[in-house]
Amino acid sequence: MAAGEAENDATTPEVSLDEVVALCKRRGFIFPSSEIYGGVGSTYDYGHYGVLLRNNVKAEWWRSMLTERDDIVAIDSAIIQHPRVWEASGHVAGFSDPMVDCRTCKKRFREDKLDIGECGRKPSKQPGEGPDCDLTEARQFNLMFKTQVGPVAESGSEAYLRPETAQGIFINFKNVLQFARKKPPFGIAQIGKSFRNEITTGNFIFRTREFEQMEMEFFCPPEDAEKWHEHWMAERMRWYTELGIRATNLVLRPHEADELSHYSSATSDIEYRYPMGFSELEGVANRGDFDLRQHAEHSGEKLEYFDQQSGERYVPHVIEPAAGVDRATLAFLVDAYWVEEVEGRARTVLSLHPKLAPVKVAVLPLVSKEGMPEKAREVFESLRRRIGTEYDEGGSIGKRYRRQDEIGTPWCLTVDGETAGDGRVTLRDRDSLDQERVPVEGLAELLLAKLDADWVSPRGSGSAAG
Ligand code: GAP
Repeated sequence: MAAGEAENDATTPEVSLDEVVALCKRRGFIFPSSEIYGGVGSTYDYGHYGVLLRNNVKAEWWRSMLTERDDIVAIDSAIIQHPRVWEASGHVAGFSDPMVDCRTCKKRFREDKLDIGECGRKPSKQPGEGPDCDLTEARQFNLMFKTQVGPVAESGSEAYLRPETAQGIFINFKNVLQFARKKPPFGIAQIGKSFRNEITTGNFIFRTREFEQMEMEFFCPPEDAEKWHEHWMAERMRWYTELGIRATNLVLRPHEADELSHYSSATSDIEYRYPMGFSELEGVANRGDFDLRQHAEHSGEKLEYFDQQSGERYVPHVIEPAAGVDRATLAFLVDAYWVEEVEGRARTVLSLHPKLAPVKVAVLPLVSKEGMPEKAREVFESLRRRIGTEYDEGGSIGKRYRRQDEIGTPWCLTVDGETAGDGRVTLRDRDSLDQERVPVEGLAELLLAKLDADWVSPRGSGSAAG
């Protein structure tokens, strides 16, 4: 669909997952992991542009949590924590999915997701649908990865890879209260890897066994919890739309009572319209005082706040916006991807928000002769320390533009035969394809101002889908 055309209805995906996966591979964003050994299911490695894009997603999250507020502090807790953390949190007893095995095809499925499962035999059917399918009774399967701490396998050496970053925050509540000199309402934010031995993976980086989370636990007086829950749902929706996701592709869906996690009195999922349909991008939960009370009981430490002015002592309630770096990255990629026809040829573009784009500006000599590469390198050197810049002189200018369009570079600067004489370069806009001559002097300031300006996707901002 060309930029600016009407958006489609809420059910038709604009882009297939296969198209996005192909672009990610072709342009070095994301590769299947361990490919030279035949791959390992649902595990991915991020290449150069993937790393830059993910770093930008994380930087924008930190900006919204830390730089733009003064009531949140950062933490980076360990992946391997005391095993009792996971007893207190409820993960040892309850972090499980119902699993069934097929005795015929030997595959394993989530009992509550049989409708999207694929039987291991050809032609592929839903598990249980074929005449030979022979499913076992459902068993609970704990999703935590177990590991061994120390060289000797003995009782007490067993530990877990954390299945969420949140608990590393709760167990540091007392430290932060003391050393960051905060009082409720305040938040603790963390980005880090989490691990879940998911039974059903798939849809590219949407559900994997190793992934990264961006979680913030906001501690507030119990009577203010609902107000802060509303606040954080609105804030998190705003974060996605300000970074270019069209509002028509987002929905805030409150959980039904039977969907709520054991710790939550209310959760709403921010869902994105992925190619496979609306699915969870982020959860915003009201966790009440469950976690602090559990850790206080299991550790024997008092995890509460004492207000010296009022003499009041209470266990704060917690509002938690919990997002996934990989799911957010996938949503930004899907939302940015479009194809148009220019002069009879398809042009594939990633219209990423400039702040998310892996490269902000590409400097290109029109041709590799007549002093143009030397002049272009000069321009590149003058910009690279101030703004994410790439230099490219290989291949025809048309091919280089297409490459930058596909990696989402918002601006290209072309040095041509006139540049040496008039001190100007051509600035090309990724989305509109407009070109203008601008002076080399002051280029960094011009580009930094563009980067800071409000931005709306060339495909429209959309209005909320419910
Ligand atoms: N602390 C609460 C918590 O972890 P969650 O809904 O299980 O809640 C939060 O996870 C977010 O982490 C999800 O909305 C999703 O973005 C991401 N996430 C969870 N499991 C994932 C997986 N297997 N692969 C990729 N991302 C995942």
